[in-house]
Amino acid sequence: MAVSTPIALLLTAVCFLGFYVAVPVLASSSDDFLQCLSTQVPSQLVLTPTSPSFKPLLVSSIRNARFVAPATARPPLCIVTPTDASHVQAAVRCGRAHGVRLRVRSGGHDNEGLSYLSQRPEVFAVLDLAKLHAVRVDPREATAWVDSGATVGELYYAVGKAAPGLGFPAGVCPTVGVGGQFSGGGQGLMMRMYGLASDNIIDASIVDAHGNLLPNKKAMGDSLFWAIRGGGGGSFGIVLSFKLRLVAVPPKVTYLSVTKTMEQDAVDAVTKWQTVAPALPDDLSVRVVVQQRQANFQSLYLGRCSQVVSTLRDRFPELGVTSADCREMTWLQYVAYIFFGDAIDTTPLDVLLLNRTMPIGPFLKNRSDYVKKALTNNTWHKIFTWPSGAAQGELILEPHGGRMAKIADGDTPFPHRSGVLYNIQYVQFWNGNTAAGNTSSTPDWINTMYDYMAPFVTKNPRAAYANYRDLDLGVNKVVGGVSTYKSGKVWGERYFGGNFRRLAMTKRKVDPTDYFRNEQSVPPLTLIRK
Ligand SMILES: Cc1cc2nc3c(=O)[nH]c(=O)nc-3n(C[C@H](O)[C@H](O)[C@H](O)COP(=O)(O)OP(=O)(O)OC[C@H]3O[C@@H](n4cnc5c(N)ncnc54)[C@H](O)[C@@H]3O)c2cc1C
Ligand SMILES: *[C@@H]1O[C@H](CO)[C@@H](O)[C@H](O)[C@H]1NC(C)=O
Ligand SMILES: *[C@@H]1O[C@H](CO)[C@@H](O)[C@H](O)[C@H]1NC(C)=O
Ligand SMILES: *[C@@H]1O[C@H](CO)[C@@H](O)[C@H](O)[C@H]1NC(C)=O
Repeated sequence: MAVSTPIALLLTAVCFLGFYVAVPVLASSSDDFLQCLSTQVPSQLVLTPTSPSFKPLLVSSIRNARFVAPATARPPLCIVTPTDASHVQAAVRCGRAHGVRLRVRSGGHDNEGLSYLSQRPEVFAVLDLAKLHAVRVDPREATAWVDSGATVGELYYAVGKAAPGLGFPAGVCPTVGVGGQFSGGGQGLMMRMYGLASDNIIDASIVDAHGNLLPNKKAMGDSLFWAIRGGGGGSFGIVLSFKLRLVAVPPKVTYLSVTKTMEQDAVDAVTKWQTVAPALPDDLSVRVVVQQRQANFQSLYLGRCSQVVSTLRDRFPELGVTSADCREMTWLQYVAYIFFGDAIDTTPLDVLLLNRTMPIGPFLKNRSDYVKKALTNNTWHKIFTWPSGAAQGELILEPHGGRMAKIADGDTPFPHRSGVLYNIQYVQFWNGNTAAGNTSSTPDWINTMYDYMAPFVTKNPRAAYANYRDLDLGVNKVVGGVSTYKSGKVWGERYFGGNFRRLAMTKRKVDPTDYFRNEQSVPPLTLIRK
């Protein structure tokens, strides 16, 4: 059985990188910033563009070929790679004192590159947290502290090794960073049972906008601790580590994959899936990847093959599953298998899951939607037969229901809860010129598809998932040195619904001058009556 088509495709399209670095003109504030850092951070942890290691480090965790050329043409003033909380604090204090902003990078998977690339004419430094990646598991308490520079794969491996019987519900791709993903949610095939990664954060430590270290939720206060569990990275402070509630997993789980072509009634199966999948038992998730006239159903069941086959034959006979579609394994094997496929038979799990490097792949653009009312079979027929031309695109459908529907919209910043049938991610990939960074050739599949879908998905506002960052939903305007609430509301209410206002009030409390900001950071809500 092969790993899902999309990831396999992305993995085969490896682009080679060739480019040059333009060295920025150093304003005196930049010199002062570097000088300030040099007194508090060991010099080998601060790289400037003149260093031969600078470019490889900058590019090391870029996950979207579209951003390689822009990032190297407009590089940060320096990259700081802290090994200690005090280095993070120094970066914030020096940055504030000398007018240098920070872009914080954990795994570097931000869909719009905001952790290492600024679209604005501003002096910024990258704070790359990759060296802060320890995981401390407490099997007896069923908790773990994970440093925010760890990848999801490193977390999974540490948990699976230290505590068989325990797991953690986060995303599918092992190279994604904990820092970005857990700040914005973190969905995966255990969310119907246990919620998002952010729903299972029970404590955290953070460096705030003044450079103070707040070591736990008590020091943070309720509103800040609420905001960092789903309100998105890059707005409220720099998370150093999260304390997680680990979850129970059985000795064997079952992964099941079935592909249906249009000739095998894929349209009917997906139509039915829309209402069946969100109502299945919580310990069973079936997601779908729709691409080029076929649908790949990928399923995780927290139990044995015989049980899931009997449940699916009963509840979803159209899928026609048999035990031949199953693969039983430990939870730790599963988290590697869903991404690397049969490579787990020949490569040790630590080699797969601890590897932070991933081929850079093609140019990418993603958008997202939420569906509350099932689409008709005629609409699905139209999607399956969409003329795609040379462009490559796919839809990934992630079922909600279960635990996702039992958490109230305002309990955490992530508002897409009860009533949601599923999330759609539209993925477009194409081969651009990595060195030139030519984005003018962006195929328009994704935007015409997104426009077509408007009547069928959530409205007023049309909702989106914060972790599938999409700058086409809107970007902040800066007035008087501060991002405006009005401009933020345009994209912010799509990601956070009614919670956006509370996030903006929290921002005002913890970072009123908007030091931590980017094109889509939460702006401070200033309560001025007109
Ligand atoms: C290949 C791939 C697969 C994915 N699969 C999934 C999935 O299965 N489920 C899912 O939910 N999402 C998925 N995503 C989306 C992913 O969760 C987000 O892109 C996430 O923001 C990436 O986190 P990162 O740390 O790797 O990114 P980064 O680019 O490092 O950071 C993203 C944002 O968070 C900020 N940030 C990073 N670290 C910190 C910190 N310590 N404190 C404060 N702010 C911080 C950054 O400044 C930036 O604004 C996937 C993305 C990719 C590219
Ligand atoms: C878009 O989503 C796909 C599938 O989840 C992922 O592999 C890809 O890296 C994402 N694109 C971007 C721009 O991050
Ligand atoms: C990590 O993955 C990259 C990209 O697939 C590969 O080139 C490299 O050899 C891997 N490293 C190890 C130690 O396996
Ligand atoms: C949709 O379903 C209806 C009713 O079952 C059927 O008549 C019609 O042919 C279907 N359309 C497509 C495109 O499958």
